Amino acid sequence: MKSLTTDAGERPAAEDRSTGGPCVPRVYRLPGVYAPQTDTGLLAATVRREELPPGARSLDLCTGTGVLAVVAARRGARATAVDISRTATAAARFNALVHRCRIRVLRGDLDAPVPDERFDLVTVNPPYVPSEDEAAPVRGARRSWDAGTDGRLLLDRVCARAPRLLTSSGVLLLVQSSLAGVDATLEALGRRGLTARVVERRTQAFGPVMSARAGWFAARGLTAPGTRVEELVVIRAFRP
Ligand SMILES: C[S@@+](CC[C@H](N)C(=O)[O-])C[C@H]1O[C@@H](n2cnc3c(N)ncnc32)[C@H](O)[C@@H]1O
Repeated sequence: MKSLTTDAGERPAAEDRSTGGPCVPRVYRLPGVYAPQTDTGLLAATVRREELPPGARSLDLCTGTGVLAVVAARRGARATAVDISRTATAAARFNALVHRCRIRVLRGDLDAPVPDERFDLVTVNPPYVPSEDEAAPVRGARRSWDAGTDGRLLLDRVCARAPRLLTSSGVLLLVQSSLAGVDATLEALGRRGLTARVVERRTQAFGPVMSARAGWFAARGLTAPGTRVEELVVIRAFRP
């Protein structure tokens, strides 16, 4: 396994505002598994600020290395982590062991492995980068970020499933790029009876994946011509 706290050539994980230090635990990954980046760090910071009830149950969808499940478990949650990738679930199991966290790691499509279960905290850093392919990739590293032409393949599914995943006082924390329609997410959650708002924002320069698509984003009207930055947002949603 390859050690990482940042991904070579990509963005460093976000800093924890209270300590100034990196807010993602050190994790290991296998080739092709998403390295924690700024989006991961932003979400981890909001997880740390969330008040969890004693014995809270947490679910991390699209878990990758399992880093966000580790953050939740360290907060005392009984954590479950799900990813569609066999390699990612192997990395998540390994990282749970390394951090001495009891995490239930399951492989499957979104929340399919946890039918009829409800959680006090649901976290998700889904694939959200608009791509020329309409369908989600079925293998390879792109499965971590490509999400159809509007970037919403997974986001729309998460919004649709969220009410059924949350306990009555449960909270959803979701991170995405401004390129994938922040208002669309807020509206989709609102239509399902959840109160949703942006609780964290961070503007950052495009990394290599986004830079390679900058022209296409502009041609599709997703960005103004010449744009080389995106805004990452964390959305918090709950039942009013
Ligand atoms: C952006 S990465 C996030 C990884 C990790 N949560 C983090 O923040 O560092 C997205 C992850 O979603 C997983 N994924 C993609 N499609 C999925 C699906 N339909 N169901 C579950 N996981 C999926 C990918 O394998 C990848 O690990």
